[in-house]
Amino acid sequence: MTDTEQLSGKVAIVTGGSSGIGLAIASTFHAHGASVMIGARDGARVERARKALGDERVDGAPLDVRDPAQVEAVVARAVERFGGLDILINNAGVGGFEKIADQSLDEWRGIIDTNLSGVFYCCRAAIPHLREHGGGFIVNISSLAGKNAFKGGGAYCASKAALNMFSEVLMQEVRHDDIRVSYVMPGSVTTAFDGGRASAGADWKMTAEDVAEVVLDVVSINRRTLASRVEMRPSKPNK
Ligand SMILES: NC(=O)c1ccc[n+]([C@@H]2O[C@H](COP(=O)([O-])OP(=O)(O)OC[C@H]3O[C@@H](n4cnc5c(N)ncnc54)[C@H](OP(=O)(O)O)[C@@H]3O)[C@@H](O)[C@H]2O)c1
Repeated sequence: MTDTEQLSGKVAIVTGGSSGIGLAIASTFHAHGASVMIGARDGARVERARKALGDERVDGAPLDVRDPAQVEAVVARAVERFGGLDILINNAGVGGFEKIADQSLDEWRGIIDTNLSGVFYCCRAAIPHLREHGGGFIVNISSLAGKNAFKGGGAYCASKAALNMFSEVLMQEVRHDDIRVSYVMPGSVTTAFDGGRASAGADWKMTAEDVAEVVLDVVSINRRTLASRVEMRPSKPNK
């Protein structure tokens, strides 16, 4: 098997796979032989991404990870279409940066429901299929904001810190089913995240492809080993 076939025969779901980091992961996995299901809220963007990736090893569906019924349906569709499930990438996430005293209830709920509860719904739906396929990977895209507090990050930092602990617990619960759970914590990445503000001054930041490369490494590591928590940051940030 060549390097570019390392995920050959594997089936992956990438939430938020229609843009940014999720699209880069879907594209990288596809290029390395995986069958990929992508889901995000905007069906037109999902369809564009699906077409861009291109062949019979790609499927896409509108998905709001805040809705457990939609999550169950998309997981079932991937299993039916591709014959099982090996890898779940919980990437869908939203920001919204307001001081806690000024944060709206809707924004708070949107961030916690997407970045934390959505991951729970996806794991809960996927784990029986991963077990049935003899194990696999769950990779949660967290953030350095899950350990570095900053003003305006009340909901976002809390959602990612909770996601980190959720991932640690899940890792212990499913490791003997041969399901390896990992969380990747990027620093600044040039994407459309938070209305494009994440891309401002993009030259020193990491790219979505940089994150995808690390996620590919995480799921390609030998069976004895689990890269359970990965921090990544720009090597030379602005001074
Ligand atoms: N960019 C950074 O600097 C950075 C750094 C660290 C961590 N991260 C994390 O990386 C992940 C991806 O972010 P990104 O930078 O690639 O941003 P992005 O380009 O805005 O992508 C976010 C993706 O998530 C989808 N999404 C949002 N809410 C969703 C929901 N409720 N259900 C399903 N899909 C949903 C979006 O599509 P729809 O809007 O159509 O649903 C989109 O496909 C996030 O978890 C983010 O917290 C980003």
